[in-house]
Amino acid sequence: MTSTTAFWLAGRQATGETTFDVTSPWDGHTVGTVSVPTDAQVEEAVSAAHAVREDFAATPAHTRAAALDHVSRRLVERTEEIARLISAENGKPVKWARGEVGRAVSVFRFAAEEARRFNGGEAQRLDTDAGGQGRLAFTRRFPKGVVLGIAPFNFPLNLCAHKIAPAIAAGAPIILKPAPATPLSGLILGELLAETELPAGSWSILPVPNDRMPALVQDERLPVISFTGSETVGYAIMDSVPRKHCTLELGGNGAAVVLADFASDEDLDRAAQRIATFSNYQGGQSCISVQRVIADASVYDRLLPRIVAAVEAQVTGDPNDDATDVGPLVSEAAAQRVESWVDEATAAGAKLLTGGKRDGASYAPTVLTDVPADATIAREEVFGPVLTVQKVDGEAAAFAAVNDSKYGLQAGVFTHDLQTAFRAHRALEVGGVVIGDVPSYRADQMPYGGAKQSGVGREGVKFAMDDYTYERVMVLTGLAL
Ligand code: SIN
Repeated sequence: MTSTTAFWLAGRQATGETTFDVTSPWDGHTVGTVSVPTDAQVEEAVSAAHAVREDFAATPAHTRAAALDHVSRRLVERTEEIARLISAENGKPVKWARGEVGRAVSVFRFAAEEARRFNGGEAQRLDTDAGGQGRLAFTRRFPKGVVLGIAPFNFPLNLCAHKIAPAIAAGAPIILKPAPATPLSGLILGELLAETELPAGSWSILPVPNDRMPALVQDERLPVISFTGSETVGYAIMDSVPRKHCTLELGGNGAAVVLADFASDEDLDRAAQRIATFSNYQGGQSCISVQRVIADASVYDRLLPRIVAAVEAQVTGDPNDDATDVGPLVSEAAAQRVESWVDEATAAGAKLLTGGKRDGASYAPTVLTDVPADATIAREEVFGPVLTVQKVDGEAAAFAAVNDSKYGLQAGVFTHDLQTAFRAHRALEVGGVVIGDVPSYRADQMPYGGAKQSGVGREGVKFAMDDYTYERVMVLTGLAL
């Protein structure tokens, strides 16, 4: 029997009146039982966060930085245990889960560094006109208020870290809601934060069921919403609170472009390997996994068999096994949806080169070509281990194919040419262009976010801090400048 995992209410552990079970997508065993906060407990967390907001904004940088450094260090110490937990509740192979913990270590470390640097203030002279003589403008950033962070299941630790760490660094209280399928990894962060001196109320981690979220989203004491998840839910949130500040990290259907100059055997081996790995990492359940390969006609015939071979070499199976590359999807329903999209594409004429089979929540790494442009899998985010490969003639056609999408999160361009790199950077309608690699590359200090329907705003520690704060100017008068 598993014991019940408490949630974190204004910095202390608490339990509610009901619980829910978290099950492994791999074998269905119960990974944990989580306590659900009552409405009164949610209210307590929100009013505590609201009440502490001014004091928290004024906390010295060293206090916030010390807390963030502490969490970073403790994550290092508990890496293996937390990686196993991520793997158990999410189905992510443990080797990828270890990488996720390592990234969360960096996120808290970057946040500690940014807390020390942030908000030094900037002076601007105003005596550029007679009316401004003797005046100086001085600007600093202040938190907009309490942040409501809503995290997804696919990086159940690191995407919670990306909401909590910048909020603490900026002095903004946060209420974090982890994903219902994977709350345990986010709740672990509570254990580490509770070891710090952060003031009561400055953070809460509440596994509130989705159907009770609209009330929280509407709450005026939570002026900032940072959401990562589906396009449908993200825009529904934003539309329901048009006057709030919403950061939305939504979907993508990441493209990897392989251009004519990336043509040696070594180049193509590397491109194929990176594409195969990053269309399948975490079962393709990343907003920047490779979903579309767009290959120049001059390299297509040599690239395609390499991709198929590299995809077939991915080791599928038990996520707890160190050798496994690809585990199950988050649920059987998710795998059934992927299956239905692949079946729809093949029925419409797409060629299945490998994969295309489902076993419970697991879906075999799959490669498709000749996918009709109007197939669901060509247009939507598959969030599964499926790759489509398309042949194009030349760079301009390749860039147009990338942009032929409602999404615009990141794109990868395999080229050696610096001029091409700059042209790609200009032409591609995405939040990030990765030259010489897949779109899936993300360093956690980088600005991360989408163009078009991939979202609004940016994460990446410093950029989230900008998002959670606003600039306030102070004009000083009568100065001898
Ligand atoms: C995401 O799925 O948007 C996050 C990707 C990442 O952090 O690597």
